[in-house]
Amino acid sequence: MEKRSYGVLLIGCGHIGESHIEEIYYREGIRIAGVVDFHAETARLFARKYGAERWGTDYRPFLEGDAVDIVIIATYADSHLPILKDCLAAGKHVLCEKPMTAGREEDAAEFYRLAGNAKTRVLIAHVLRHNATYQRVREMIRAGAVGELRLMRMVQNHHVMNPGRYGRLMADCPPFVDCGVHYIDVARWFSGREIVSVGGFGSRTGSLAPEGGYDHGILTMRLDNGASVLYEAGWSETIAAENRKEFIGDRGRIRLTLACDRHADREEGDLIEYYDAVNREYRTINSPSVYKNMWGQLQCLIGMIEGKTEGSPTLEDAYRAFRIALLGWRACREGRELPVPEKFV
Ligand SMILES: NC(=O)c1ccc[n+]([C@@H]2O[C@H](COP(=O)([O-])OP(=O)(O)OC[C@H]3O[C@@H](n4cnc5c(N)ncnc54)[C@H](O)[C@@H]3O)[C@@H](O)[C@H]2O)c1
Repeated sequence: MEKRSYGVLLIGCGHIGESHIEEIYYREGIRIAGVVDFHAETARLFARKYGAERWGTDYRPFLEGDAVDIVIIATYADSHLPILKDCLAAGKHVLCEKPMTAGREEDAAEFYRLAGNAKTRVLIAHVLRHNATYQRVREMIRAGAVGELRLMRMVQNHHVMNPGRYGRLMADCPPFVDCGVHYIDVARWFSGREIVSVGGFGSRTGSLAPEGGYDHGILTMRLDNGASVLYEAGWSETIAAENRKEFIGDRGRIRLTLACDRHADREEGDLIEYYDAVNREYRTINSPSVYKNMWGQLQCLIGMIEGKTEGSPTLEDAYRAFRIALLGWRACREGRELPVPEKFV
């Protein structure tokens, strides 16, 4: 039987759009049927660089006909819902960048409902789910390497050198929502537990966030076994870059350092440092580094289309992570800890 070929349309030829296309354009079974960006010159350049069949500034004509099977939505969060609606109406499968939508809870609920009821498949791009190092750390935690997980500390601050891009992202939501959805999902995925409450503090450390908005935040979350999760994210021209991921239990801890942040031997890959507190032993593991495994992620969607795999994350998981992030944003504004409901729908 002839192997199926999927026509892919990329909407949004920016930072993450390029991460997607550069990992998939040459793969067997993939045709880049089109690339679209508001900026004609960017779309034209992408078409030439990645061999797209067509390019344009308006995605709608690309949804007509059968050339496109899968749409990758890599635009700003406030356009995800309207583009999703058009794609589903045209019978296309969708890989949509996180966060599902910009700040409004009603939009997120509509996205979740539409995607869940669609005849085609929708995967939200939580790329850490497809990262081999994160998968390995999760396996270690689930196998009891650190005993009972008591604390997760996850920090990701960016010193901003390209204010236009970060300013535009923060017009939709602060970094602890935009990026926070990844790590709220990681907290649930690693621990297998539910987040029961969320609190937080927001700050405006630079000048790029909307007036009265936040460019930095610390979310504090409680799991249903009493464990704590701390997540910090900031994007500003004044803050220093920092990336820290620690998972601490009653019998040990794991610290994860990405290859790009290693001071030595970065060519070995990501570094997993494991401390076994019972035997007072340290172990270091090099994990081959593909930070954004866009091909693995697209293969997950293809598996869903072909009925072979479930979404990773499921729509439910992605929706829950986003709603908890929105609650965290509210907690920052209201200056109080908020309970997380068992169900959001
Ligand atoms: N998964 C990740 O690790 C990750 C990392 C960065 C960004 N993102 C997400 O990806 C999305 C885009 O972020 P980015 O950093 O790539 O932004 P970006 O500014 O680099 O790129 C966005 C591009 O989309 C284009 N665009 C926007 N709306 C459009 C529309 N309706 N039609 C055609 N073109 C349109 C813009 O012209 C721009 O070129 C955001 O939702 C962001 O949260 C995810």
